[in-house]
Amino acid sequence: MKKIIIAIDGFSSCGKSTMAKDLAKEIGYIYIDSGAMYRAVTLYCIEHQLFDEKGQVKEEELKARMNDIHISFRLNPETQRPMTYLNGMNVEDRIRTMEVSSHVSPVAALGFVREALVRLQQEMGKEKGIVMDGRDIGTAVFPQAELKIFVTASPEIRAQRRYDELKAKGQEASFDDILYNVKERDRIDQTREISPLRQAEDAILLDNSHLTIQEQKEWLKTQFLKAT
Ligand code: C5P
Repeated sequence: MKKIIIAIDGFSSCGKSTMAKDLAKEIGYIYIDSGAMYRAVTLYCIEHQLFDEKGQVKEEELKARMNDIHISFRLNPETQRPMTYLNGMNVEDRIRTMEVSSHVSPVAALGFVREALVRLQQEMGKEKGIVMDGRDIGTAVFPQAELKIFVTASPEIRAQRRYDELKAKGQEASFDDILYNVKERDRIDQTREISPLRQAEDAILLDNSHLTIQEQKEWLKTQFLKAT
């Protein structure tokens, strides 16, 4: 069977990565979480004091340090799940905190950050056989992807899912803060100048507000079989 590129884009916290990860595992493809890469750059900025007192990114300083930021993925041998590494350190848990979530969208709006990460993403997908999720995978990273899905769900449902996820990990979380963060990230992601979040013309829309994970999995598998 020919290998293809599967691009899964959509709003924040709508379960894109769960569905992308599960599909990749089932069909033997590589899964890449492009959001984790923007989160890793954001964590680097937090740890190197690259946000000023108003919470704005110190752009020139970050630009000068882009070559010092090395992001990679390695499989966890026990769970077979990909873990995000920043300069050789496993940062998988640290990039999922509310602090990173509330700083990531302005970092992801910077042209030089996007250029560097898109280049890396394209490199990772050049052999095909890849499922990548994000905001601009079908529009900017792989406009030629053979299967494009655009996922959405209501902001309240997305915030509830993120709240449950953080609680399950034992992290402090406030539903209202998460809902605000989800809406705010949507706003910044949709209105930024470079590669704003939008549905590619040839993407298939999936509103998963009322779908179970199992139903979603079956739907996605059907789309994959149709595309190959
Ligand atoms: O997917 P996730 O919610 O982890 O992504 C975190 C943030 O990274 C998004 O809110 C968005 O600002 C940014 N992002 C992006 N382009 C991508 C993936 C993520 O701008 N391809």
